[in-house]
Amino acid sequence: MINKIIKPDFKSTLKEDRVFHPSKKFSANAHIKNMAEYTKLYNESIKKPEVFWAREAENLEWFKKWDNVLEWKQPFAKWFSGGKINCSYNCLDRHLSDKGTQSAIIWDGENGDKRNITYNELHEEVCKLANVLKGFKVKKGDRVVIYLPMIPEVAIAMLACTRIGAIHSVVFGGYSSEALKVRINDARAKVVITVDGGYRKGNKTRMKDAVDEALSGVKFVKNVIVVKRNGIKVQMKKDRDFLYGDLMKKASSVCQPAKMNAEDPLFVLYTSGTTGIPKGVVHTHGGYLTQVAMSAKYIFDLHPNDKFWCTADVGWITGHSYVVYGPLLNGVTTIVTEGLPTHPTPERPWKLIDKHKITQFYTAPTAIRMFMKIGRAWPARHKLKSLKVIGTVGEPINPEAWTWYYNNIGKRRCPVVDTWWQTETGSILVTSLPGATPTKPGSATLPFFGVDVAVVDMKGKKTKVNEGGYLVINKPWPSMLRTVYKNDERYKKTYWNEIKGVYFSGDGARRDKDGYIWIMGRTDDIIKVAGHRLGTMEIESALVSHKAVAEAAVVGKQDEIKGEAIVAFVSLNLKFTESEKLINELGAHVVKCIGPIARPSQIIVVDDLPKTRSGKIIRRILKSIAEGNEIKGDTSTIANADILEKLKKL
Ligand code: PRX
Repeated sequence: MINKIIKPDFKSTLKEDRVFHPSKKFSANAHIKNMAEYTKLYNESIKKPEVFWAREAENLEWFKKWDNVLEWKQPFAKWFSGGKINCSYNCLDRHLSDKGTQSAIIWDGENGDKRNITYNELHEEVCKLANVLKGFKVKKGDRVVIYLPMIPEVAIAMLACTRIGAIHSVVFGGYSSEALKVRINDARAKVVITVDGGYRKGNKTRMKDAVDEALSGVKFVKNVIVVKRNGIKVQMKKDRDFLYGDLMKKASSVCQPAKMNAEDPLFVLYTSGTTGIPKGVVHTHGGYLTQVAMSAKYIFDLHPNDKFWCTADVGWITGHSYVVYGPLLNGVTTIVTEGLPTHPTPERPWKLIDKHKITQFYTAPTAIRMFMKIGRAWPARHKLKSLKVIGTVGEPINPEAWTWYYNNIGKRRCPVVDTWWQTETGSILVTSLPGATPTKPGSATLPFFGVDVAVVDMKGKKTKVNEGGYLVINKPWPSMLRTVYKNDERYKKTYWNEIKGVYFSGDGARRDKDGYIWIMGRTDDIIKVAGHRLGTMEIESALVSHKAVAEAAVVGKQDEIKGEAIVAFVSLNLKFTESEKLINELGAHVVKCIGPIARPSQIIVVDDLPKTRSGKIIRRILKSIAEGNEIKGDTSTIANADILEKLKKL
């Protein structure tokens, strides 16, 4: 919403002139070999999107071909309407004749457990679970919430839903029971698939308990399927809860894929926005599958027998598109890992790459900065010869981290793809192509095929070279979100009303003289902590729900490793006074409401918050204080000016 947009400081201090070219050897074998090929295809994709996307869609198997490639009544798009398709069929069945015995998933558990699942086996498991869901009367369009750690069952569950046309909604396993409840309620899920508990840094966690809490008083969830992972004792509610293993033993492995309309919803994924309530981002079958499949192929230059490792959790969009769907649609092997990459030792990722001969590695800047801090001695012990492309996503990458990644993980051989996209975009929209694009550390480079981007001011006017502005997308693309679940108004308002006629990403950016895009971060009240997207309003709502807190304002503060850290300013109700105990309690309260990812790294008690005369909190001032910077800009609008002096003393 426009009034939530912080007037961004669009001055970029980043100076980076280095350019890295793909090696001739890499380019020779790449799908897109040079900039001329990129430009030709890009121009076609923009000028004749219908021709371009029809050709890409034909790489998937359709039960019935579409009538129209695109119907666009802004802001509502329909791609491939009239077409009939099934996601699990495209991820599994069509590969079975030539890849049945090839690994679909190689899984590395945190406690040393390992599994290797072939395409044949994955197909069988998916069909069985789809039949289990059918047995629970789950039908086309019903919602199934998946609350699992990074175990193969998370992919099996997603694919099983798509097989019968149920809409999955994966909730990140680190979310608390309260955050889970909000999502289950909004989706009105019929079934929840969960686990007894998982592992984190060698400790056993409890997840079924969180489901039980989330479901207290909820009538519409008819069944809970519980995977056994860490063996802790859990309560099983009679006639509602069933063990996954028991159900699967009895299930048939024959299940015909449902013929879904291209525009039927495939999944709903909740993400933080600028209000306290998360948005259910809706993605559909035909467009999402087409663009995810082709983006994975070109951007990571996938070839048969590749082994693709994306370190994201499946609870986020990156996990949906590039742990599960992108690799499987392309018939390659996906590596799924549970727990922290640095546990049990910081050598884990590099050992895994050498052991499995992993070909693509896709991670986040936070992880790269963490590896950097731990030291290059760990990756230096490993050859990492199998790697071909390395990628980054989720937050801006600083040139130092980019160069470290290129030197120490890519060993100066592998192109780095810095990929910009969002939960809403479904797939990567701004990126380099590894065999073609000269890269500049810190820049996500150029728009991907079919993506008509611009950097504009609030009136929609293009900014000048290197002048900051808002990153917008001018035309619809197949994997774009279709709406916010059950809330078309919020969809229109958030994405298509800020700047007339274009998709508003919420990110600030600039374009350099070569047209390269440099993302400058969010311009609204969303912060990125270790690549995780959190709405400041969500954290503020959590804080004020504590009896001691009168008011709260949350800002992001630059952090060397996590990109941004959460700083909360709170004023207390009269009966309460500041103490270490209370501060700890407030931190724990946020964890209870949202989850450990939202715990503020600092909670500062203040007498009052700086506000405008209309009562709006001036976060810009709080951000300067949190970062230890001088308060710049206009302070004349502050209604309670006396607070400023007190804040300065902080
Ligand atoms: O601010 C941008 C940042 O992540 C936001 C989207 O977050 P989410 O929906 O959680 O999806 C993350 C994974 C796709 C964007 O609005 N972002 C994502 N990729 C990059 C980035 N910022 C800079 N560079 C990137 N490569």
